[in-house]
Amino acid sequence: MRREAQERVAELRRLIDYHNYRYYVLDNPEIPDAEYDRLMRELQQLEAAHPELAMSDSPTQRVGATPLKVFAEVAHSVPMLSLNNAFSEEDVVAFDRRAHEGLGHDGELEYAVEPKFDGLAITLHYQNGHFVQGATRGDGYTGEDVSANLRTIHAIPLKLPEGAPPWLEVRGEVLMLKRDFDRLNAEARSRGDKEFANPRNAAAGSLRQLDSRVTAKRRLTFFAYGIGRVEGATLPPSHGEVMDWLGRLRFPVCQERRLVRGVQGLLHYFAELGAKREQLPYEIDGAVYKLNRLAEQEALGFVARAPRFAIAHKYPAQEELTVVEAIDVQVGRTGALTPVARLKPVFVGGVTVTNATLHNEDEVRRKDVRVGDTVIVRRAGDVIPEVVAILPERRPMRDLVTPLHEAFAMPTHCPECAAPVVKLEGEAAARCTNGLSCPAQRKQAIIHFASRRAMDIEGLGDKLVEQLVDKGLIQTPADLYALTVAQVADLERMAEKSASNLIAAIAGSRHKDLARFIFAMGIRNVGEQTAKDLARHFGQLDALMQADEAALMQVPDVGPVVAESILAFFAEPHNRAVIERLRAAEAWQDGEAQPITAGHLAGKTFVLTGTLPTLAREAAKARIEAAGGKVAGSVSKKTDYVVAGAEPGSKYTKAQELGVTILDEAQLLELIGEK
Ligand code: IVH
Repeated sequence: MRREAQERVAELRRLIDYHNYRYYVLDNPEIPDAEYDRLMRELQQLEAAHPELAMSDSPTQRVGATPLKVFAEVAHSVPMLSLNNAFSEEDVVAFDRRAHEGLGHDGELEYAVEPKFDGLAITLHYQNGHFVQGATRGDGYTGEDVSANLRTIHAIPLKLPEGAPPWLEVRGEVLMLKRDFDRLNAEARSRGDKEFANPRNAAAGSLRQLDSRVTAKRRLTFFAYGIGRVEGATLPPSHGEVMDWLGRLRFPVCQERRLVRGVQGLLHYFAELGAKREQLPYEIDGAVYKLNRLAEQEALGFVARAPRFAIAHKYPAQEELTVVEAIDVQVGRTGALTPVARLKPVFVGGVTVTNATLHNEDEVRRKDVRVGDTVIVRRAGDVIPEVVAILPERRPMRDLVTPLHEAFAMPTHCPECAAPVVKLEGEAAARCTNGLSCPAQRKQAIIHFASRRAMDIEGLGDKLVEQLVDKGLIQTPADLYALTVAQVADLERMAEKSASNLIAAIAGSRHKDLARFIFAMGIRNVGEQTAKDLARHFGQLDALMQADEAALMQVPDVGPVVAESILAFFAEPHNRAVIERLRAAEAWQDGEAQPITAGHLAGKTFVLTGTLPTLAREAAKARIEAAGGKVAGSVSKKTDYVVAGAEPGSKYTKAQELGVTILDEAQLLELIGEK
């Protein structure tokens, strides 16, 4: 019995480690979660019945252990140094030149390149293939023993496969994925707890918990990027091969790593990785370039606390500190009041930022942003800059409430038209109740109508719309088509030539396809995609205007909320009058109805792999499901389509083997009926 139990325990540990690896490292599970849970329960029961079989590297030990009082110190056998930074192309050129000089090498050097992960550095120690200790970087020479916490991270192997050396120290970065960070903050928010400013802080906070049961709940992950001390094994001759070897030992190694040659190769990689940055599931703050050949690394050695053979090329910071000079309230197209922080100008995310959205009143309260505060502003990609958090310790005289530092309150009347402001139950935004009689809403409606993705009237910017409305020349989008050159030429900063260009652009915007026109009308909750679906489904504006709730809900993605917004829009006599004038101006062209029925993909099974160019995985899944299809986790003979993006996993190869149809994102959208 004892022997049998021992064998089954070993078997279960092997199986669970394997499926854990498939799930957390390869992101490609082989068995359903329920089956994994069954294996885990069986192992837990056996270990409980036979305490003598318990082991610290058993997969059951990932749930956390009894809290510690303090972290023990760990001296690093090989120091954990930092990297010098490059902020410009010149810095990269200089780095490559120094490497050439140091090596006395002509011709292009080979570099191993990889993302600079924005997490925290750790070292993992394995003795005879068993995880025995892990530590933070600390001051580079001594770190903290966070072994119990590291054990809870599923991506970190507790036991290595056959062939692991007697002693191995692996270096890498602990991270929190963006989606796990968002989830963690959403939970904190719903409990009224403080949120983490970014995934890096969340990862650091989670790893430095004395109670590893807390860490276990936080979902951290890990990427290996190098080696500390190894005994009893000869390393392959290049960094790239070392990483491949670590991958075979089941360490998570990043899919974005490459080998490149020369400065051109480095800069090309930097640009390519930068373009992918927003889509990556984890945060990075640059690229790391390492001479690929270990012999060359050794020849160059170190200066002070950083290697000469490697450098971190940083992207412009996405977060900076600045001061809030005022908090204004803007009125949007639908009347929503948005508090906006006016900031002391600051260079962040590659541009100078002077305004940041504060979203809504609750958000300002929660973050407690006040005039005079020092704040972290974030601008990532093309996203509107936002205030992440304030630095309470920098609030001037924070114990005194001076007029400068009073808490923000939403005005009770619209700052533009003085109409009362309401906040509906279940809605975050407060709204001006004056509709299109509010000049701010009118202006925003016209700005939206003219915008690039709507009617695309070139040259009709915010400032011009403001003047046209303030001078009483236009009140609705329909009035645009009646403007004359003489009227426009009279405006500030306009002349005969620019005026006639604008009039020509307005005339040229006519005959837009119905989808754009629907989007241009600015119906609440109707974005570009819904507008496309509506246009395709109804074909003609009149058919859309006559549709009742049931007819509208025939369109995939249109639910009761969207249907209600559409009905309310067309029920408004003012809107109908404007549409009639736009009809007379021939602003749009009707088309053929091609009713989209929800469920035309019923019975079809899809599998997603790799990163799609625009759709997040969840979004792709939602669309397939909205069309009646099903999304499965693994490829089999029953799979109808595999949708593959960049860097597809083994599902792609499997699909090829089984002859399953492979689609790219565009083909998927076409199939769903969105193209
Ligand atoms: S290699 C000898 N590779 O950057 C230096 N570091 O400034 C070995 N980091 O503390 C570091 N991504 O936390 C290396 N792909 C990567 C990295 C990386 C992030 C961090 C690491 C280290 C810091 C050095």
